[in-house]
Amino acid sequence: MSEHPSWWRDAVIYQVYVRSFADADGDGMGDIAGIREKLPYLRDLGVDAIWVNPWYVSPQADAGYDVEDYRAVDPRFGTLAEAEKLVVDAHSHGIRVVPDLVPNHTSDRHAWFRAALAAGPGSPERQRYVFRSGRGPDGDEPPTNWRSMFGGGAWTRVTEDDGAPGEWYLHLFAPEQPDLNWAHPEVAGEFEAVLRFWFDRGVDGFRIDVAHGLVKDPAYPDVADVDDPTDAAYAPGTHPFWDRDDVHDIYRSWRRVADSYPGDRTFVAEAWTSAPDRMARYVRPDGLHTAFNFDFLRAEWDAAALRRVIDRTTASLQRVGAPATWVLSNHDVVRHVSRYGRTSSVGGENIVHPPDGAVDLVLGRGRARAALLLEAALPGGFYVYQGEELGLGEVEDLPDDALQDPTWERSGRTDRGRDGCRVPLPWSGVSPPFGFGPEGTTPWLPQPPEWVAFTVQRQTGDPDSMLELYRATLALRRRLPALGEGVMAWVDAPEGVLALRREPGFVCVTNLSDAAHPLPAHDEVLLASGPLEGGSLPPDTAVWLGLCRR
Ligand code: NOJ
Repeated sequence: MSEHPSWWRDAVIYQVYVRSFADADGDGMGDIAGIREKLPYLRDLGVDAIWVNPWYVSPQADAGYDVEDYRAVDPRFGTLAEAEKLVVDAHSHGIRVVPDLVPNHTSDRHAWFRAALAAGPGSPERQRYVFRSGRGPDGDEPPTNWRSMFGGGAWTRVTEDDGAPGEWYLHLFAPEQPDLNWAHPEVAGEFEAVLRFWFDRGVDGFRIDVAHGLVKDPAYPDVADVDDPTDAAYAPGTHPFWDRDDVHDIYRSWRRVADSYPGDRTFVAEAWTSAPDRMARYVRPDGLHTAFNFDFLRAEWDAAALRRVIDRTTASLQRVGAPATWVLSNHDVVRHVSRYGRTSSVGGENIVHPPDGAVDLVLGRGRARAALLLEAALPGGFYVYQGEELGLGEVEDLPDDALQDPTWERSGRTDRGRDGCRVPLPWSGVSPPFGFGPEGTTPWLPQPPEWVAFTVQRQTGDPDSMLELYRATLALRRRLPALGEGVMAWVDAPEGVLALRREPGFVCVTNLSDAAHPLPAHDEVLLASGPLEGGSLPPDTAVWLGLCRR
């Protein structure tokens, strides 16, 4: 493995959604043994690291984001020993390993929460969570008007030992995910110990779940607008639970923990903020290292919108000396092939479920190919969500009884949730399980038969496939000195066309307009996302050009 001191500043990190990546034991759910088997695939794809979604012991009320034991691996996924072997094996393939850490909430089955329920009102055990009396004469109204991100209220009332309705506890997500009280020193101490537990086992960093939500306003005020789940209408840092300034005290101490280990360990924040300068606060030199750029993911397939995001991101991150971390898809949003395949509501609110309007997946895939070349040409690093390298679209017709995301039930079956981007990967063969597990495996979510055309096996060696485009892009990006961390400059281009230059001698042109665009002067076409027409770049196509003699 390269000993480059800051590998994370321009890394390509592949998101392994463990449930859906590869199932070695045939129980229908992916596992760590499956990841280990596929390490050669990931090495050949050319990624620098993997982020693995939560593998901890969990009742799986929210696909593992409800952690019962932070120091043990869920038997569905394997054992602690297998996780340790994964780290060793991945390192031997030159791949770093970044697990997911869930500090905002635990499972309601976590030992601390069971103890809190048993110990009763006013007990020290309840102080580690957020228990409050209800409002109204009988305390039967929740303490605040906050809503759960999955629908319904954010407070659940417990029944006390005497059988009477008692206190309420806070859960910004499902009721099975009680929020921790980060004002409590034991909470902070426990998470530093958990970081050390895994750093001692060689992991290279952590992805921090809900990094913007840990600290709440101690006054617990109502939110101004219950229908607005964001902090957009608030002055920066003043929302009752999102992106409060004190949250950075936590990350300053985590940074000290990470820095006390050899080998350049890193944190990536999942922080949904209202503005790039708020995101930049998470990645100051004494805080977390990087943060997903969700503004890029949220942007429409529109040259002006993307340019605005790129400019605002790079400017605000430069001020704090952090690299950008681009992202197009993850396990929480509609896959970008489907987002870009909608002309009605591309991007923006269309990242949530269910998307509206007819989808043109051929258009979406063409744009996704171009988006990859644009993304990989930008300064910094980027994430690849498993399956995007295969060009998978959102599975929008999962049967109702297959849906498992808590959003489905919590929304009164109005929001189908995120299962459509979580369907197990197609690796090989002509029918489900498409090599996801041994023959006869029933994947935990059904795979569409059309995925026969998108298996790794089918795409390998086909120069026009999405997979070969990803392989070529990642390989070239590694080789070209102009790419990775650094600066970029825009080159003049007509409306709807994005042309950016990196030094030495590299230009990426992306055509988001309706008309073909003549290629600028160049010495070499390094890579194109689709066929070039004579000297022109067709709509929804991107190209990398070499300018060796200019
Ligand atoms: C963000 C995770 O990505 C999502 O999957 C999860 O449901 C919530 N955080 C709650 O942990």
